[in-house]
Amino acid sequence: MPGSNIEEKETQTQITRRRFLSYLGGGFILGGLFLQGFAALKSLFPKVLYEPPTKFKVGMPSDFPEGVRFLPEHRLFIIRNNDRFHCISAICTHLGCTVNLAQYSPPKTYDSSSGKVVSETFEFHCPCHGSKYRENGNIYAGPAPLPLPWYKLYVAPDGQIVVDTNTAVNHDFRLKV
Ligand code: FES
Repeated sequence: MPGSNIEEKETQTQITRRRFLSYLGGGFILGGLFLQGFAALKSLFPKVLYEPPTKFKVGMPSDFPEGVRFLPEHRLFIIRNNDRFHCISAICTHLGCTVNLAQYSPPKTYDSSSGKVVSETFEFHCPCHGSKYRENGNIYAGPAPLPLPWYKLYVAPDGQIVVDTNTAVNHDFRLKV
């Protein structure tokens, strides 16, 4: 009968629509659960800022010629005087710019605070605000509040020099190799 056919079709359409809506609802619930699970998993892995290592090898003693060598990747100067080495930071203590090496030949002389004439073959100059540091990292001009720190050096078992930027040392420190 034509009337019952129309009713049957309407019923089927309602069933299909109901099924579609129930699938849609289920999809939303599953999606929500998935996102919640993902967020919970993500929270298990803390957001960590990886700092550069504070101890690192910089090369064999023979890699360093007499005098000063700048290591731009570490912002350090390694200074060699015969078989003795020391390390000075190249990070200006004012606002952290990298200081430049200024070399003098013939050596530059100045009167120290004790009245002694000192001669130096190099200094460190900051290009940002004009701080100037002596050969030993002490400030003599500009706004920098502190001297350039010296860092501990030691020799690794494979013979390479290691810098430990976590350990500041006094100006009389020398690594003898
Ligand atoms: S950052 Fe070196 S003087 Fe300012």
